[in-house]
Amino acid sequence: MHPDILQFHAVLSQAATRIEEALERFLPSEGVVLADPVRHAVLSGGKRLRAFLAMESAAMFRVPEAQGLCTAAAVECLHAYSLVHDDLPCMDDDDLRRGQPTVHVKWDEATAVLTGDALQSLAFEILASPRSGIDPRIQVRLLHRLSQASGPAGMVAGQALDIAAERAQVDLGLEEISTLQSLKTGALIVWAAESGAILARSDTTPLRNYAQDLGLAFQIQDDILDVEGDAGTVGKHLRKDAEAGKATFVTLLGLDGARRRAFDLAERAVENLAPYGSAAHNLRLAARFAVGRDG
Ligand code: IPE
Ligand code: IPE
Ligand code: MG
Ligand code: MG
Ligand code: MG
Repeated sequence: MHPDILQFHAVLSQAATRIEEALERFLPSEGVVLADPVRHAVLSGGKRLRAFLAMESAAMFRVPEAQGLCTAAAVECLHAYSLVHDDLPCMDDDDLRRGQPTVHVKWDEATAVLTGDALQSLAFEILASPRSGIDPRIQVRLLHRLSQASGPAGMVAGQALDIAAERAQVDLGLEEISTLQSLKTGALIVWAAESGAILARSDTTPLRNYAQDLGLAFQIQDDILDVEGDAGTVGKHLRKDAEAGKATFVTLLGLDGARRRAFDLAERAVENLAPYGSAAHNLRLAARFAVGRDG
């Protein structure tokens, strides 16, 4: 394994522990209605990449850690909601996620819909809480951007285009796939990466550019892993894109072409971090991890 990836595994696992402690504090405690499926959706694994980007972006601007943990926990709840709904029978119909049964399999479909709904609200509640320690004007900015990134101009639009293309068996071109993926996966990753700059009232442009490239690279690697990954390591059923006849970067560019495209995007992502010098070291590692990961 490349030394950058090895180093990143250690950095990410340390951050994941802090993030999971924070999530424990925000999630409904056991015994409360929906607590079990909500906790299952959030706490049973996951790389925590979006949460890591949020924390690291805040740390780079020396924002108090408690604020970075709020943005990290919020984006992780939002991401978990998107996965619970993505796995539903009416969407991708997946019974395995993070090596565990999906919420609609372990409970039922209604519970999975409600779990996703609950997690979406919880993400906004965490960010809007007066206990976050974040200046209310900044809170509104973060909330506004997160609504855009996750809603009908962001992730939900990407999911809708993805499902529509699959149903109609439309062969999307490279540009259309890039747009779809930037919405589906990129928008939330961009929010996470730029959240630290928003908290610090700093220019978000370099981080936005970094995360747009990283998000696309990350999704290309997801498509590559769907073709050549190991299900045990990835923790979800693979070869599903081909089964569904889905156009992806791999179907358009071939495996080698997709690998090259992902690598180039990760390197371009890194170039955007130049203004931050050595403070952006971990974000550089994250970009290389996005394309070098095997799970
Ligand atoms: C899976 O995201 C969905 C995609 C957008 C590719 P991740 O690969 O980050 O999933 P977890 O959180 O690590 O399980
Ligand atoms: C899902 O994309 C992305 C979101 C949930 C927004 P995929 O359908 O490719 O993700 P996996 O492969 O199921 O994780
Ligand atoms: Mg999907
Ligand atoms: Mg899916
Ligand atoms: Mg996928």
